Amino acid sequence: MRLDKYISNATDISRSEVKRIIKTGAVEIDDQVTTNPATKVTSEQKVSLDGSVISACKHRYFMLNKPAGVVSVSKDKHHPTALSLVYEHRSDELQIAGRLDIDTTGLLLITDDGKWNHRLTSPRSKCTKVYTVTLGNPIEDNYPEKLSLGVQLDGEKHRCMPATMTKIDSHCLTLAIGEGKYHQVKRMFVALGNHVVKLHRFRVGGITLDEDLAEGDYRALSEAEVACIG
Ligand code: URA
Repeated sequence: MRLDKYISNATDISRSEVKRIIKTGAVEIDDQVTTNPATKVTSEQKVSLDGSVISACKHRYFMLNKPAGVVSVSKDKHHPTALSLVYEHRSDELQIAGRLDIDTTGLLLITDDGKWNHRLTSPRSKCTKVYTVTLGNPIEDNYPEKLSLGVQLDGEKHRCMPATMTKIDSHCLTLAIGEGKYHQVKRMFVALGNHVVKLHRFRVGGITLDEDLAEGDYRALSEAEVACIG
């Protein structure tokens, strides 16, 4: 990466200001003063500004407690977007890792790390997602077995992967699924002759929604949370 871009990304100083600073001789690469903003720098090299080492441009990872009414796309004319709730610099580089429907609440992961996003969301990842589901009609005794055998969704060639449920009360359960087809949970319960009235995601892989996050709030993931994907 170019030196000026590297420093701008890592510090949030504008690119033009960084160019000016570099020309004053305040920047060193591996202890050698460098005055050319176009010099290429790699992540193995040590870059310092006024004697302080600048850490390599790190990726960013967040969990958001998504409220209902918010869409999981980057731009929308009619509804607030999940990204508009994340007040971070260079927010245009952030992507949503695994969408939720507009009326679904809960754990939404956001990152600028495309590879991590892909590991989480690619159809091959089989990363488990866990939801609290409230149904319009009572849970039937045969649901656990039907879900464990793989529900056949309307319009899909293959059955769903086996899913596991735990009953909470007559209309409410937790459901763990290992894939993410379009409107999957809602369609699974339509296939069972029921319908979802409320859906909340609280776990993705080893990442659990922080109970201290109010709806609409977000926080950075810990290193352990980031590492558990992939
Ligand atoms: N399944 C759904 O039907 N909706 C979601 O938002 C997530 C999973």
